Amino acid sequence: MTENVTRAVGVDIGGTGIKGAVVDLEAGALVSERVKVATPSGAEPDDVLTAVRQVLATLEVNDTDMPLGVAFPAIVKHGKTLSAANVADTWIGFDAEKFFEEGLGRPIHFANDADVAGLAEARYGAAKGVEGLTILTTLGTGIGTAILYDGHLIPNSELGHLQRANHKKDAEEWAAYSTFEREELSWKEWAKRLQWYYSYLEFLLSPDLFVVGGGVSKHSDKFLPLLDLNTPIVPATHRNNAGIIGAASLSIVDAY
Ligand code: BGC
Repeated sequence: MTENVTRAVGVDIGGTGIKGAVVDLEAGALVSERVKVATPSGAEPDDVLTAVRQVLATLEVNDTDMPLGVAFPAIVKHGKTLSAANVADTWIGFDAEKFFEEGLGRPIHFANDADVAGLAEARYGAAKGVEGLTILTTLGTGIGTAILYDGHLIPNSELGHLQRANHKKDAEEWAAYSTFEREELSWKEWAKRLQWYYSYLEFLLSPDLFVVGGGVSKHSDKFLPLLDLNTPIVPATHRNNAGIIGAASLSIVDAY
């Protein structure tokens, strides 16, 4: 943990895009442009590293003056990536933190993308001060989840991979935002799938709050009102920037 840090760089690696910015850690706000490049097709480690270098070069933050947090769409334990739902299988059991540190020539903080979005919302957003159980979901290429209890993260929850009975598909293959786009669903059709998903989470975990992140959260007025749940459900305050802000904040919070 770094003391007296006021700014850090956050890079959020997703299945579709890699986004980065400089973040003010007191305000939890972006203080640079938001740079985005496409996630290289196949998302092999070397190509992802090149893309991250490109983001940092565009932000002109190639020095080590500021801490750097990197968020990744997989289970992350002790610096290793242990799964690969929307990236190359090479990442399974891969020493990813070390790989990025060597490749970038600097130390980094490294964690799961949904977990850091959860940290950002707990520290600076919709889950701030919320007592009890908050479940943040990111609706994007996949579905990422962060479980927070009284603001404390229980990491690597992976609830986007819950399966429906007799369905043999992960929840994310049925209800992620990418399915809405790929299958050209209407908001109502997609909301029916989300209704199943959030009702199931509600039944399993009895949360106090759902927070919805991911790029589509900026259109939350189109689908959140269509859901009928007992749990309050709100968009992430930081929308799709929660991952960047949360990654940057890894330098001042103990994620795991
Ligand atoms: C991955 C998670 C990730 C989520 C969102 C899922 O496919 O298994 O680790 O958080 O996508 O990117």
